[in-house]
Amino acid sequence: MINYTEKIPNNVDLGRDRVLQRALEHWQPAYMGWWYDMGPNESHNYEVYLRTAISVEPDGWAQFGYVKMPDYRWGIFLQPRDEKREVNFGIHKGQAAWQEVPGEYRSTLRRVIVTQGDTEPASVEQQRMLGSSCPSMYDLRNIFQVNVEEGRHLWAMVYLLHRYFGRDGREEAESLLARRSGDADNPRILGAFNEPTPDWLAFYMFTFFTDRDGKFQLCALAESGFDPLARTCRFMLTEEAHHMFIGETGVSRIIQRTCELMKEHKVEDPSDVRGLGVIDLQTIQRYLNFHYSVTLDLYGSDVSSNAANYFTSGLKGRFEETKINDDHLLSEALYPVYEVIGGKIAQKQVPALTALNERLRDDYIREIESGVSRWQRVIDKAGIPFRLTLPHKGFHRAIGNFAGHSISIDGEVLSEEAWKKQEYKWLPSPPDHAFVQSLMSGRVVEPGKFANWIAPPARGINNQPLNFEYVRFN
Ligand SMILES: [Fe+2]
Ligand SMILES: [Fe+2]
Repeated sequence: MINYTEKIPNNVDLGRDRVLQRALEHWQPAYMGWWYDMGPNESHNYEVYLRTAISVEPDGWAQFGYVKMPDYRWGIFLQPRDEKREVNFGIHKGQAAWQEVPGEYRSTLRRVIVTQGDTEPASVEQQRMLGSSCPSMYDLRNIFQVNVEEGRHLWAMVYLLHRYFGRDGREEAESLLARRSGDADNPRILGAFNEPTPDWLAFYMFTFFTDRDGKFQLCALAESGFDPLARTCRFMLTEEAHHMFIGETGVSRIIQRTCELMKEHKVEDPSDVRGLGVIDLQTIQRYLNFHYSVTLDLYGSDVSSNAANYFTSGLKGRFEETKINDDHLLSEALYPVYEVIGGKIAQKQVPALTALNERLRDDYIREIESGVSRWQRVIDKAGIPFRLTLPHKGFHRAIGNFAGHSISIDGEVLSEEAWKKQEYKWLPSPPDHAFVQSLMSGRVVEPGKFANWIAPPARGINNQPLNFEYVRFN
């Protein structure tokens, strides 16, 4: 169980390490300052029907109730330790899992933790203005739930930095509160976390595509030989699942509403669809293309010696490492990657050890494909002849072997000029954004009411009815 009587709720017996406790209690007001500045806009007095972790056990970990977000009990929760756990891959395979940071991996591990930690406050910053255009009270509550949990994920990484990395760790923890998403001088570390999230379609796409990148990174870190990192990430994953649910159902509800009105009014042309005050499927496809391609970049270069080092040293595993039936060393194995040669995309076999980013990206793509096919079913059920597709992996990429090439949505290598001519056939244009934002000019917050452009969800949160008062504005 989690101890909520302490200033910082935790299940790591924080009270026994006074120095660490003091350091974190010193960081806490800085975190609150960041939340007041960069957390959801104008929300500080709202009472929100949130879930809070009360136990790290898989059953019944959540408790629901009204909370003012600045009073949310952010804390430090690790999955319980398995005394028999070992390092399961790389050259240290078979050793007992590390409870302290091995000296030779100190700076590498710190970088991995900082990079993960930086994404958490970044997404809160990206989403901070969306409350003023929410489509319902239910959705408003959901975005706030995501925001407080991303805040907790920052706490999770900051605990590791403070506990295991001494002075350097404390400095990194301060920098995590100093960078700002999209800031010209002090931006967040990764590209997708500096893109704006200007509207709710972008928010749902982000939680479907980009929070899922978070899931796969956390899954790889949950395999780490550094046990405290593994246990931290395991618990974060339980929270991440809800974020992806919000994204998948959000997009699905938008598609559903569009299809309903298309059928009812027997229209198909995008401008007629827009005339009904819903988002045309073509625009949804363009948003999908954008968020998918930007998120693919987060996995890094297709061939990467860093990724190989992380694996060989036992710091970052593969997705479901322990379920894979091989030597967990990758000393001989090959893996296919793509590259652009002479105006064509060609496949090439490289040592699997160097292709671990690409492999994780492929694992991610498989999960994305099944989510997109669930969206497709909504369209099919309505009998509308429209196919949602995933762009080619090389489309609109800025990192890896496709960077610097102009790849079409179907994987054709084009001249930059030819690509530019078609850019807004594939990606949301300024008028697309303007249209979507025109639908979301104000917030819908009457209990049980939903904006015209989105269908209600199948059910409420924690079995509450749809007209439940999920947020009290005071
Ligand atoms: Fe997160
Ligand atoms: Fe998340």
